[in-house]
Amino acid sequence: MPAPATLGVFARRKRKGEKLVVLTAYDLTSARIAAAAEVDAILVGDSLGMVVLGHETTLPVTLDDMVRHTAAVTRARPGLPVIADLPFGSFHVDAPRTVEAALRLVKEGGATAVKLEGGRKREAVIRALLDAEIPVMGHLGLTPQSVHRLGGWKVQGRGAEAAARLRDEAAFLQDLGCFSLVLECVPAALAAEASAALTIPTIGIGAGPGCDGQVLVFHDLLGLFDDLAPSFVKRYAELGRDAVAAVGRWRDEVRAGVFPGPEHGFLDQDAPAAGSYGGGAAGKERA
Ligand code: KIV
Repeated sequence: MPAPATLGVFARRKRKGEKLVVLTAYDLTSARIAAAAEVDAILVGDSLGMVVLGHETTLPVTLDDMVRHTAAVTRARPGLPVIADLPFGSFHVDAPRTVEAALRLVKEGGATAVKLEGGRKREAVIRALLDAEIPVMGHLGLTPQSVHRLGGWKVQGRGAEAAARLRDEAAFLQDLGCFSLVLECVPAALAAEASAALTIPTIGIGAGPGCDGQVLVFHDLLGLFDDLAPSFVKRYAELGRDAVAAVGRWRDEVRAGVFPGPEHGFLDQDAPAAGSYGGGAAGKERA
């Protein structure tokens, strides 16, 4: 059996000054794509609430949602560390309930580590998670679970006071024992300065090139989600547009009687379908 993927890549890349590449994934298919593309780690982000489950924010995402999707990702056996988000509400009550939630992500979901949003306020729960041997990734800057308190999805850390607070929180999370830190939507100069000052790697999103690594949402990178168009996203493909075109071609062929062709049928009604979702042996006979 292959050895489990570890988080060692985070410290290694920071030490060598090599950029970390982290991609979100939410299911078997996206995890296989991330693994085949040889990224460094997968984040099962609670962004799944928006890009997969259709919520307007990440707030409604449940622990069950996160466990189910984390398990789907790890069933892909990506051979990469898989970090799972603790969803809103799962770490806000007390430390014992936070540890119980994180244990589900590790034991049922197969996560290597958990990520949670916030700084000093989360000291007690982060300590409890680390005591339970669960590695923790921090998340500062724009923390989407605080969208109502922040008054929207706004850049954070602007101005001397806010910048000093972010630097302080970052050092605090490092000293507490977080292995890495997401910096979301903070000015590039501040993110670069914080990254240089820390010994743990920062993973940026909307935080400029000075971070130790970058993370993007799978659906944003591949052009699969149009509801939001953050300026920090670069779309490397237009799979949503391509998918609509492909489905349209299939629709046209069905209506024209072109699909299915003879090669898509079977000679013998009793032969099992090749690769059927219902299971069964591969029957290769064709009409
Ligand atoms: O939920 C998520 O996908 C995230 C990343 C955007 C960092 O937290």
